[in-house]
Amino acid sequence: MQLSSAIYKYLPWRTSSLAAARWRWLARSSILAENLTMPNSVSNSAISIRNLTTIEELEAVLRLEKEVWGFEDADVTPLTLAVAMKATGSIWLGAFKKDAMVGFAFAFPSLEEGKVGFHSHTLAVHPAFDNLGLGYQLKLAQRDRVLARGIAEITWTFDPLRSRNAHLNFAKLGVISNSYRLDFYGAQTSSSLHTNGTDRLWVTWRLADSRVEERVKGRSRRSETLDALALLEPLVRFNGDGNPAEADLCQALSRQRIAIEIPGDIGQMESSDIGRAHQWRLATRRAFTEALNAGFTVTEFCRSIRGQQGPGAYLLERLNH
Ligand SMILES: CC(C)(COP(=O)(O)OP(=O)(O)OC[C@H]1O[C@@H](n2cnc3c(N)ncnc32)[C@H](O)[C@@H]1OP(=O)(O)O)[C@@H](O)C(=O)NCCC(=O)NCCS
Repeated sequence: MQLSSAIYKYLPWRTSSLAAARWRWLARSSILAENLTMPNSVSNSAISIRNLTTIEELEAVLRLEKEVWGFEDADVTPLTLAVAMKATGSIWLGAFKKDAMVGFAFAFPSLEEGKVGFHSHTLAVHPAFDNLGLGYQLKLAQRDRVLARGIAEITWTFDPLRSRNAHLNFAKLGVISNSYRLDFYGAQTSSSLHTNGTDRLWVTWRLADSRVEERVKGRSRRSETLDALALLEPLVRFNGDGNPAEADLCQALSRQRIAIEIPGDIGQMESSDIGRAHQWRLATRRAFTEALNAGFTVTEFCRSIRGQQGPGAYLLERLNH
């Protein structure tokens, strides 16, 4: 990471509170001091990613799951289920700083519409280590393990209002999506990340596609996506006072491309104004549902389309299958 990009990572829009920023700074400073020239990732000598093998390691995953999502005990994955999944072909990966687990990724074999694949159920990085490329590195390690098993597709779900996840999934990993699931885990759970419902985009990561190969080599399509977005009137857009404004649906659906904007930090909005966050949920739910039902595919996400404090935008396209 260049020094300038290290500083960029501390810009205010990336942090939800001063205390969290200070805590992150303290936790990271040892890593950044170790290597300021790493490209977009933490130093390999500081963090290692490896397969999890013991029950103690699975217990560490479940502790981290509880901490990251803020789950009550009843919503944490049962240890016995984790052990059984491990014994039947699931992939459990941990990111460690020395002996401490600071992130993990969990995927299980799936059979979707008769097709064998992997479904990645959880990916998490301790908040003290976020934005250092660990989530990305865990996904790359997951990709290697799945390809080594002769399987070329991983699916997962994420909350489309979370700009960080959208950037990681579309811009850095190259997923696509053509399915939107309403309240996938129910209207609410005990997680602090689920206070605004649990709508999800169901994404597909085609591991061996040239699109994905390009992304994992670090080739971004940001400028092409920005060019495409510049020509579109968004179906959902920031109206200037922070609320969503919806454009004419029929007109949007009659075009080849659609843009859908989202806030830069929905977590902060959920804390400060849950009513507004819910308006965003409803507006984007309608837009994604209608567009995907009409045959569009979500292909890209571009963060900060109008400067650091502003929204990001999804690009949806009619693809010829
Ligand atoms: C999602 C999660 C795993 C990401 O982990 P991470 O280690 O921070 O991810 P990375 O550093 O690899 O990538 C994050 C990217 O988002 C960027 N980012 C941070 N905040 C952002 C925001 N508000 N909007 C857009 N991008 C943002 C980071 O700068 C980084 O991109 P860059 O490397 O191109 O600069 C982690 O935040 C997490 O555990 N979240 C809670 C649980 C969760 O949502 N899990 C995934 C679904 S199961």
